[in-house]
Amino acid sequence: MHYSEELVEEVRTRNDIVDVVAGYVKLQKRGSNHWGLCPFHNEKTPSFSVSGAKQMYYCFGCGAGGNVFTFLMNYENYSFSEAMKVLADRAGVQLPEEQDDEQMRQRENKRARLLAVNKEAAKFFYYQLRDPRGAVGLRYLQNRQLTEETMHKFGLGYAGKSGEELVRYLRQKGFEDELIKEAGLASHSERHGLVSQFWNRVMFPIQDINRRVIGFGGRVMGDGNPKYLNSPETPIFDKRRNLYGLNFARTARSGNIILCEGYMDVISMHQAGFTQAVASLGTAFTPEQANLLRRYTENVLLAYDSDGAGVKAALRGIKILREAGLTGKVINMQPYKDPDEFMKALGREAFQERIDNAENSFFFEIRILAGQFNMSDPEEKTRFHREIAKKLCGFSEDVERDNYLQAVADKYLIGIENLRKLVNAYAAQTGLAKPLERPRSGIQRRDDPGESARRSQRLLVTWLAEEPALYGKVKKYISPEDFTDELYRKAAEKFFQGLESGDVQPAGIISMFEDESEQRQAAALFNANLPKPESASEREKAFHDILLAVKKNSYEYYTEKMGTDIGALKLALEGRKALEELAKAHISLD
Ligand code: UTP
Ligand code: MN
Repeated sequence: MHYSEELVEEVRTRNDIVDVVAGYVKLQKRGSNHWGLCPFHNEKTPSFSVSGAKQMYYCFGCGAGGNVFTFLMNYENYSFSEAMKVLADRAGVQLPEEQDDEQMRQRENKRARLLAVNKEAAKFFYYQLRDPRGAVGLRYLQNRQLTEETMHKFGLGYAGKSGEELVRYLRQKGFEDELIKEAGLASHSERHGLVSQFWNRVMFPIQDINRRVIGFGGRVMGDGNPKYLNSPETPIFDKRRNLYGLNFARTARSGNIILCEGYMDVISMHQAGFTQAVASLGTAFTPEQANLLRRYTENVLLAYDSDGAGVKAALRGIKILREAGLTGKVINMQPYKDPDEFMKALGREAFQERIDNAENSFFFEIRILAGQFNMSDPEEKTRFHREIAKKLCGFSEDVERDNYLQAVADKYLIGIENLRKLVNAYAAQTGLAKPLERPRSGIQRRDDPGESARRSQRLLVTWLAEEPALYGKVKKYISPEDFTDELYRKAAEKFFQGLESGDVQPAGIISMFEDESEQRQAAALFNANLPKPESASEREKAFHDILLAVKKNSYEYYTEKMGTDIGALKLALEGRKALEELAKAHISLD
């Protein structure tokens, strides 16, 4: 971060979060908060809250949260400095010239120039397609049954007969050769100088979620190799972190996102009204893309090609979705090859039916597996059953595993008790059932042992943030060291300083963290769901219980580390004393 803390705070405090968010989300005041439909996941009843007092937002549905900077960074996909600039501008705060960070300035400048040259190239292609000389391109797209409206929506274009025209046009617009090259729009050839590799193709501009053109895919009109030519990776074109069509799909509010393989699939799906369709960018679907999708939905439907390669890709996709904590289903495209062909042949209603009947990803995996065994051979059949058992062990939750076990036993006519025995044998052999990994998932696993400790810590901080006056009564029992999670401790230190000086700024604490996921965790710390007891004595008990839980956890934490860490010994001893006193103490909330 290259702005001073004071300046960041000034910009933050001069932009009321309720005003800023209201520019994007319809909010309604209820109690002390404003509520609306969360823009970061799909929902029908509002669980997205914005607090004027705390200057923070938090979604009780998906856990998205942060301050006014976080909001813009997430919603607009801005970097921190972009959000800072926009908000400073909004509030009329003058930002200093950033001479101190020349490198950063140059990088931002370079990104802006790359976006500009891509935008200009997209314009060039767009007009070429509508020019008489672009008639072949237009005819090609029309033959593929795209309407003028669809072509316009996706900004489709045409690259003419030579690769020199684009370069000439861009130079004329003032772009240097070096930049044109760096944007991946052209390269040097001995014979022709700087020429674009994009010629004699219909052009698909690739946009990021803010509709900025970051690259291109160009398709030959007919047969030819390569079928699609894509821009290379550049500082603004990261193929792992963007998805074709997501700029539209993110506001589709359909309750799911449909993941396709190709640009044309996305386009014909959108034309048919399925505006939730996206595709990866000429490469396999990545974990980064899964994380991106998680901001918008929990349900991803795979509409991959029905050929062998498509099935393989779907199997890989399912794994990635599962690891990201998303639910995957597979749409059956048979007897057609891909969504584009399907749509042309059977139309939108038939496709909607396929969506409704999409296959649970586990059953899909088992069905594909089944095809690899000859079931009339007892030995192969046994191997198939063992493989099923192995897969069932992937479910960490007993109920879930058992439900799947019953369903799969039913479907493949396997004796349920026999299958259960196989599962147990396999589980015993390999240790317990292997828990599903859900890294960085917004969805908390209930069986995480640290989670209950963190929960009490969140409750305590939220309560103190809402009633800072209580701090005087608890400070002799509790300190930032009681926050055993590193991020929480860092935030608690700052929070306690604020409580001490009587100036608590929860939203300012968020700015201490640069990473989005850290900001989200810090936001959660101030947005726990406080109990709402009826009577005063119940309230006191609830508060006391929370304090005790935090203290008890920290005592256990330092006791465990005592043997190896001399500082921990001291904290454990002090903790025990405080814990004993606290157990006896009566803390009045009046
Ligand atoms: P497909 O070959 O399935 O193409 O490749 P498609 O999207 O169905 O296109 P049409 O209908 O034949 O015109 C799927 C995706 O794989 C990438 C592109 O992103 C394409 O949309 N791809 C394919 C390439 O990047 N290069 C290629 O040569 C082929
Ligand atoms: Mn295809």
